[in-house]
Amino acid sequence: MSDVGTVETMQRDEAAGELEWLAGEIARHDRLYHALDAPEISDADYDALRRRNAAIEARFPDLVRADSPALRVGAPPVEAFGKVAHAVPMLSLDNAMADEDVVEFIARIRRFLNLGEGDPVAISAEPKIDGLSCALRYEDGLLVRGATRGDGTTGEDITANVRTIFDIPQRLAAEGDPPALLEVRGEIFMHHADFQALNRRREDNGDPVFANPRNAAAGSVRQLDSRITARRRLRFFAYAWGEAEPAIDGSYSAFLDRLERLGFNVNPLRRLCRTAGELVEYHREIASMRHELGYDIDGVVLKIDDIALQRRLGFVGRAPRWAIAHKFEAEKVETRLLEIRIQVGRTGALTPVAELESVTVGGVVVSRATLHNQDYIEEKDIRVGDIVTIQRAGDVIPQVVTVDVDRRPEDARPFIFPDHCPECGSLAIRPEGEAVRRCTGGLVCPAQLTERLRHFVSREAFDIEGLGRKQVPQLIEAGLIREPADIFRLARDRGTLDRLESLDGWAEKKVQKLVKALDERRRIGLDRVIYGLGIRFVGETNARLLARHYGSLEGWRSAMLQIGTSDEEALAELNGIDGIGPRIVEALREFFAEGRNVEVLDALTGELQVEAVAMPNGDATPFSGKTLVFTGSLAMSRAEAKARAEALGAKVAGSVSKKTDFVIAGADAGSKARKAAELGIDVLSEAQWMEMAATS
Ligand code: IVH
Repeated sequence: MSDVGTVETMQRDEAAGELEWLAGEIARHDRLYHALDAPEISDADYDALRRRNAAIEARFPDLVRADSPALRVGAPPVEAFGKVAHAVPMLSLDNAMADEDVVEFIARIRRFLNLGEGDPVAISAEPKIDGLSCALRYEDGLLVRGATRGDGTTGEDITANVRTIFDIPQRLAAEGDPPALLEVRGEIFMHHADFQALNRRREDNGDPVFANPRNAAAGSVRQLDSRITARRRLRFFAYAWGEAEPAIDGSYSAFLDRLERLGFNVNPLRRLCRTAGELVEYHREIASMRHELGYDIDGVVLKIDDIALQRRLGFVGRAPRWAIAHKFEAEKVETRLLEIRIQVGRTGALTPVAELESVTVGGVVVSRATLHNQDYIEEKDIRVGDIVTIQRAGDVIPQVVTVDVDRRPEDARPFIFPDHCPECGSLAIRPEGEAVRRCTGGLVCPAQLTERLRHFVSREAFDIEGLGRKQVPQLIEAGLIREPADIFRLARDRGTLDRLESLDGWAEKKVQKLVKALDERRRIGLDRVIYGLGIRFVGETNARLLARHYGSLEGWRSAMLQIGTSDEEALAELNGIDGIGPRIVEALREFFAEGRNVEVLDALTGELQVEAVAMPNGDATPFSGKTLVFTGSLAMSRAEAKARAEALGAKVAGSVSKKTDFVIAGADAGSKARKAAELGIDVLSEAQWMEMAATS
């Protein structure tokens, strides 16, 4: 191994050659030791290799390799993480809670793909790791960047940190034939044993302990000092890809095999299944062994194996149509209900919240759980002092599920639901037929105001760095903000900034950062503006639908003003948007009927440069911004035709009108094709459409 000359007399080319050899050799021993538990050399010999590497690097600093083993121990701390834009968004998964949801998942896919009875569809199943996702970029086989998921579009640059993780290769192994570019995605997580050891060390040092392995992994990855990350024993399972050149084709299971050959750990429990029955059985088996795995999983992930089919299936909102997370049943625990408090939400909803004797559920300490609404408490006859069972599943808020009436204390009295808002004293009314009682105080109610502004600055909305949940009430209290526009006005004059600086926790530097963060958000997509307004039922997906349909701020605003006056034609257009149901239409009508809301919107947009929503494929196509109507019987399922059209930037309508640009007529097209001809609209055959779509 090291019957080699001294470093002092070494030649450049000799040094380069040996550094290359050392990088490979040390990585191999790291893997033998850490991943396979089968070291081939003694610790002393291993240390000698590392020392030699360090000595050569010290003499030839310009020869330090991107995959240098020295980087494994971390680099000096940075002040903040850089931002990384994900060229391919990092998405989330829809959940299946029950077996029937899996059956429906398969059925939906079969319908979408128009598969016949006999056509099999293979599905790859694997555990869902409870960690945090990460994207690793390899150029010519070398790790050049690691990034967190962030909001799915932009993450944080954690390159120095991921370099310290032994499961993450610095250089892809030749056996896997490294491509020119490959972004490998997967989960960073921590084994139970490492988590417990870490917490013991922290306890000994008087540091606060982590609640669960997931938090410990997240805390370790987000260390500005990667030398700390290096000591944390993080693991990585690879399960997806982002950008790749050449493109990844074939099957997902073959891709996983290749990831293994490239040097990654891939979950050994993965299995290829062919029917819903096999998938349900897989879920049952994995659930039964979950506590023996040594790391946390919270379900299984099911993915269509054929990558060409994955492409055809595409995405809905933020989740792929071709995958689903089949979650495990929620964990349940008993505890005592100490008090019931009423929380007032963004839209004025009064939600009863149970204050509990603290208990650990699924690795997290819980001291509060939702009681949903008045009827829920009454139907279950839940009283203060009762022993209740609570459950917590995934990211959802813990909830009270049952009450043990037999163990009820004698003095327990039924809860009287208030008819006035506990925050502002306004009347709280419960409309006939609705489950929720609402405060009528609007923005006069401090709770509603706070929650609306919190929603506005949240990650999925304006995502303003340095201004989060915690700071909002403080700025309201100080009289600095009352509506969204005020947030952007903070940066306007010196006087306001001085007042901000005088507040607790707002040093000059923090204020400067906020000003910068605000400037970064002045250019913002219409979908985020719509979502940020916090209109009832208008979540991210609906906000995006609206933004795409109306195209520009002006287009959307004027249509909504007409909605506010119940204009028939505008209502018909809104109702015609696929995915927008009557509840949303009514919520938008109510919102825009209120002049004050329009003022709030205008004041806000006066501070911004609102951008149209970028089309998924970026470039313009012959169908960009056009309205298409499909009619007759098509070879492609309607759902797939619609998804394809939308991916090309088109909108799909259900009926032909003056606003229709193209009608795609399948076999036996009837009245719609005739109407199109009357109106002089272009009618395409399915074959013509497929050809135009394929070349766009
Ligand atoms: S696939 C396009 N596979 O679950 C979807 N995700 O709920 C790509 N996760 O953000 C995700 N284990 O952080 C996939 N085996 C697995 C996973 C997994 C854990 C996480 C991942 C993702 C989240 C979605």
